[in-house]
Amino acid sequence: MTSDTLSVPAVALGTWAWGDSGRPGDGYFGSPLSESGLREVVEKAQGSGFTLWDTAVAYGMGHSETVLAKALAGYDRGEYALSTKFTPQLAGEGDDPVGDMLARSLDRLGTDHVDLYWIHNPADVARWTPPLIPLLESGRIKHVGVSNHNLEEIALADRILGEAGFRVEAVQNHFSLLYRGSERAGILDHCRKHGVRFFSYMVLEQGALTGRYGPGHPLPEGSNRAAAYNGILHRLQALTDRMGAIGGERGASAADVATAWAIAKGTTPIVGVTKAAHIDGLVRARAIELTGAEIAELEALADAADVDTRGWWEQEMA
Ligand SMILES: NC(=O)c1ccc[n+]([C@@H]2O[C@H](COP(=O)([O-])OP(=O)(O)OC[C@H]3O[C@@H](n4cnc5c(N)ncnc54)[C@H](OP(=O)(O)O)[C@@H]3O)[C@@H](O)[C@H]2O)c1
Repeated sequence: MTSDTLSVPAVALGTWAWGDSGRPGDGYFGSPLSESGLREVVEKAQGSGFTLWDTAVAYGMGHSETVLAKALAGYDRGEYALSTKFTPQLAGEGDDPVGDMLARSLDRLGTDHVDLYWIHNPADVARWTPPLIPLLESGRIKHVGVSNHNLEEIALADRILGEAGFRVEAVQNHFSLLYRGSERAGILDHCRKHGVRFFSYMVLEQGALTGRYGPGHPLPEGSNRAAAYNGILHRLQALTDRMGAIGGERGASAADVATAWAIAKGTTPIVGVTKAAHIDGLVRARAIELTGAEIAELEALADAADVDTRGWWEQEMA
């Protein structure tokens, strides 16, 4: 059994965008990023109690891990927690592809352990879960989570780890006002019942739910997220306007309300911050308590938008 418990702030920080080159319009997100800007994000986040950083080899093929390590330089290893992933599709040909991928992540992250290690997707649960056991035993990974797994796959991974005295301690799935498959599929209930932490990713739908983008001011031209969302921004206007109004009553923004909604649903949002000001938003979101009526109204508006924002890498949950 893992010796320490998994302690998690109200919001975790995502660094997929940090795997981009940082040139405006280039890459998955197309946001301009600089070394000094990301250092500012880290300093503000660490100072505000947001100390859990989520990354993956797949984010810029190691670039996000490298950039994150650089931005965290100078902090004591005990002051922050690292969450990264084994991506089955990137497995090498050696005897221990999971151990090998972890070793390269540790190298890029400049550390000897990962606090929370994920199997990125359920490509072959029976094959990729057992190799986590020696990594847990050696202390190179402290806790295990599964991402993009359905209920059956979560249970299988948990059974495999359970035979060695470990367990699936966290689930990481797409969960936003617009995409609530994990709730419909009973995964949120399962996690609540079994004391498994549910991490919701893309609660801001890669910027489409922040209120900052709309038909007249779309996501950065040339980026992958522009291709995924620009065509549906007009359908999200009523929802983002209402989130903006609810936020306005509390000195907060639409994005803060989207994050507060995910917290109110009992999940830990992983928010893909790219600017220091985003951390101010998370501080506000952490303090917002939405009423039941507000939650119901936002969910009804989200349903009325009638959009499907499932990522190309995701299976249908329900
Ligand atoms: N396990 C998986 O398969 C999986 C899949 C997807 C994501 N994830 C994880 O979840 C994280 C979050 O997802 P994501 O980064 O794809 O999308 P997201 O968090 O829904 O949206 C990120 C975008 O929203 C804007 N933003 C971020 N924080 C903000 C704030 N507080 N206020 C206003 N705008 C804000 C930024 O856009 P601008 O730069 O334009 O301002 C940013 O690029 C990822 O970074 C990754 O760690 C995991």
